[in-house]
Amino acid sequence: MITFTALALFIQLIVTFWHAVSVTARPSSYAVWAADSAIKRGQGNGLDASGKAIVSYEHGELQWGLRLLFERTGNQSYFNYIRQGADNIVFPNGTVHGSYKLSDFSLDPIRTGPTFLYLLKETGDAKYRTAADTFRDQLDGHPRWLDGIYMGEVFYAQYTLDFDASNTTAWHDIANQFNLMFTNTLQNATTPNSTGLLYHGYDFSHKATWASSDRGHSPEVWDRALGWYFMALVDVLEITANAPSSLPSSTLAAISDLKVTLQNILATLTPRLIQAADPQSGVWWLVLTQPGRTKNYFESSGAAMYIYSLLRAVRLGYVNDEDGSILRAARKAFTYMTSNWVIENVDGTMSWINTVQVGSLDTTGDFNYYVGVPTDFNDLKGLAAFLLASIEYEYL
Ligand SMILES: *[C@@H]1O[C@H](CO)[C@@H](O)[C@H](O)[C@H]1NC(C)=O
Ligand SMILES: *[C@@H]1O[C@H](CO)[C@@H](O)[C@H](O)[C@H]1NC(C)=O
Ligand SMILES: *[C@@H]1O[C@H](CO)[C@@H](O)[C@H](O)[C@H]1NC(C)=O
Ligand SMILES: *[C@@H]1O[C@H](CO)[C@@H](O)[C@H](O)[C@H]1NC(C)=O
Ligand SMILES: *[C@@H]1O[C@H](CO)[C@@H](O)[C@H](O)[C@H]1NC(C)=O
Repeated sequence: MITFTALALFIQLIVTFWHAVSVTARPSSYAVWAADSAIKRGQGNGLDASGKAIVSYEHGELQWGLRLLFERTGNQSYFNYIRQGADNIVFPNGTVHGSYKLSDFSLDPIRTGPTFLYLLKETGDAKYRTAADTFRDQLDGHPRWLDGIYMGEVFYAQYTLDFDASNTTAWHDIANQFNLMFTNTLQNATTPNSTGLLYHGYDFSHKATWASSDRGHSPEVWDRALGWYFMALVDVLEITANAPSSLPSSTLAAISDLKVTLQNILATLTPRLIQAADPQSGVWWLVLTQPGRTKNYFESSGAAMYIYSLLRAVRLGYVNDEDGSILRAARKAFTYMTSNWVIENVDGTMSWINTVQVGSLDTTGDFNYYVGVPTDFNDLKGLAAFLLASIEYEYL
């Protein structure tokens, strides 16, 4: 009897211990943890919460991160998830369906385009070419927001490199988009306490309610818009680095112009971004132009996007970090991010907090607008940015 009780107790102990271990077990890599958690929740797979096909930039952003993680870990599940997500929005004949309509001329869906180009290369399935061609045909619309640069230009550059590499006009066009936004949204030194960073929006016609009469920019610097812009600078630089030297010299000159443009912008904005970080926490305010103002807060998606961009730009040599200040800033922000915005769940997954839902420029685009938008739990554009930041951090 005693022996039996002891044995039972022993087994009970083992079960409890095993349970504790399996419940708290989590990957040592934040990147893997973020990816596996998103996958377990079925996020970013080309379907919305009700199971309907949706062509979403957030899914494109996650797929970009899963591709980088697949390349780093060799775990085929990440590749399969990307493919499954794309196949949920592309019919076998190459038609992009779900929420997508070319006639909407929205740049957001285009952020899934790099996934199609990647899958075409990896699988050879021509339907992805058809899908990519649809997006390329759409690119005649004019991006007006910094966000639009990320949604449109990464695809534009990769498509041009893959199928139209000697199209000098296209390379110039890409450089012009970055320049246009930079010139017209730069908060310059004539403004008191200028951040030297980029305002959220630009309206070519200067007619939008939020547009300034001089250059057509919106009134505040919003952290996520600047985050998209930074990621686009780095990702497009990487695409240009893969241009074959066999191209005609006029094309090579256009690609070189684009590189110089992007590197100059990066060199100008990087020290200002670091300067704008909150000195204590090392992360950034939602409205960068109003540090410390009541209702302003540290927003998580913008910080994750900056960390990814800064670390990747240093690692790939796109920006000079002789004094180590960029790495220091990124490390500090990463530490704050993992201790404040990552939540461990009992099932071993992680959740992500403090990502602002949206920042659209349909309204006045003033301070009260931005701080009035709620934050979301497990917001995919924030979580995917955290995946990207973690991949880069774990290269260190
Ligand atoms: C590969 O990734 C999947 C999907 O997130 C995960 O469940 C699995 O444990 C991973 N496999 C390995 C060998 O790490
Ligand atoms: C492509 O396939 C879809 C789904 O089967 C169909 O509805 C659509 O008409 C097809 N488009 C073309 C151009 O064949
Ligand atoms: C080259 O790119 C420009 C700008 O996007 C486009 O209008 C033109 O059709 C492209 N030319 C070819 C041959 O694809
Ligand atoms: C600086 O910004 C102000 C306000 O937007 C604008 O009026 C002025 O034209 C800008 N100067 C330059 C050189 O861009
Ligand atoms: C500029 O910053 C100083 C010091 O933080 C502050 O007192 C002042 O109100 C700011 N000016 C403007 C126009 O925001």
